[in-house]
Amino acid sequence: MSRQDIFKTTKKKIIGISFGIVLVSLLTLAMLTQVFYRARLFANVDRQLLTHRNMILNEKIIKGKGEHKEVILPAPLTPDIISFVWKDGEVVDESPHVYFGEGKYPSFPSEETEGIITLDSDGYYYRGVSFIKEGLVVQLLLNVDAELQSVQQLVRATWLSLLILLLVTFGLATYLANKVLKPIRRAYDQQVFFVQDASHEMRTPLAVIKGQLELLSRHRTDQIEEHFEELAQVMNEVHALEKLNSDLLFLSKEDVGTHLNVEKIELNQFIEEISEFYEDISEIQDKRFILEKSEVLQSTWVEWDRVKVKRCLTILLENAFKYTLECGVITLKVEQENKKIKISVKDTGIGIKDEDQKRIFDRFFRSSDVRGRSIDGSGIGLSLLQSLANTMNIEIKITSEYGKGSCFTLEIPIQIKA
Ligand SMILES: Nc1ncnc2c1ncn2[C@@H]1O[C@H](COP(=O)(O)OP(=O)(O)OP(=O)(O)O)[C@@H](O)[C@H]1O
Ligand SMILES: [Mg+2]
Repeated sequence: MSRQDIFKTTKKKIIGISFGIVLVSLLTLAMLTQVFYRARLFANVDRQLLTHRNMILNEKIIKGKGEHKEVILPAPLTPDIISFVWKDGEVVDESPHVYFGEGKYPSFPSEETEGIITLDSDGYYYRGVSFIKEGLVVQLLLNVDAELQSVQQLVRATWLSLLILLLVTFGLATYLANKVLKPIRRAYDQQVFFVQDASHEMRTPLAVIKGQLELLSRHRTDQIEEHFEELAQVMNEVHALEKLNSDLLFLSKEDVGTHLNVEKIELNQFIEEISEFYEDISEIQDKRFILEKSEVLQSTWVEWDRVKVKRCLTILLENAFKYTLECGVITLKVEQENKKIKISVKDTGIGIKDEDQKRIFDRFFRSSDVRGRSIDGSGIGLSLLQSLANTMNIEIKITSEYGKGSCFTLEIPIQIKA
């Protein structure tokens, strides 16, 4: 899947999932609101009908004797209740109403209903109950058109709000998906560039090795010592590749975030160990190496990840030696300031141009000067230093003057948090 496709489908998925979640939640909410609203509306109507039914059941409704017998229902609590009293299929009493025309009556499914039911007649809607009292069928009804209309209005309003909310959700989900994907897209691109740069850096040493080996293969009968220079160059390039490989591996591990192995270290001894090696190097390379440390450090203990802090210092010292010409001076200075140890590596080397200073921590960046002078290196050292510094909360400061020299300072907390 190409980069474009991955991000397109991921974006679609994020939008789809958020949209789906909101849609289902809103639909459930809308349905529940309607059901509860409807139930509450009818509950009031039903209560009035049931109260009136109970009043009728508790009273005698056939009053008078013989010829003068007549049906008299108790007065309802609300005049809106319509009543019909049937005897032998004929209406013997009905309350005044405006709903049923001449000869028209509500059609209940049975003479006795199970609780209250909804009926419709001529486009009007009613809640009604039918029961038998003293051999007569009594039907009570209440028109619920107003209630149904308000339910319909609620339904319309709910759908409209649902539509608006869904449009807003769609917009928000798109915005969020873009925002969420932005850092991922950047990290993804960085990885791609990293791999491209790494393979590009490997191309030159590989080309040299290939060229020299091809040359050697044409002189199969020659003695080895006759081609010592070519072999030495091949060895050099293999070393360079080896270093690049181990730096890349270290860097990728730092990126993933390895854990710190913090231990108590006697600072003085730690610095001495590192300096000893560079004293030897300075002799070989005909440069001066100076170690400056305050007396206080004699008894200073720090809590550091030994391997990683050492790696930071060697990256700086390696650069200082590499970018300082013969007879130059490299100074390693260690001092304590509050709760930090300041270690600076200063050189009287080639210096770094102002415009390059911002870029030297970028992976694979090497100044054109350095490339021009064909000084070995792949431009990973300082980016590795930056990753290490981030993990250990170390601050890096740099001052440099082109043609005069550079000074890199590390401010390391006395206690690095693991
Ligand atoms: N002390 C220094 N003096 C002058 N230039 C420097 C110094 N340190 C770093 N630079 C510049 O910064 C660039 C990046 O340094 P970095 O250590 O990352 O890579 P490198 O030394 O070129 O290669 P390597 O990965 O082998 O360390 C160098 O190529 C060089 O141009
Ligand atoms: Mg370097």
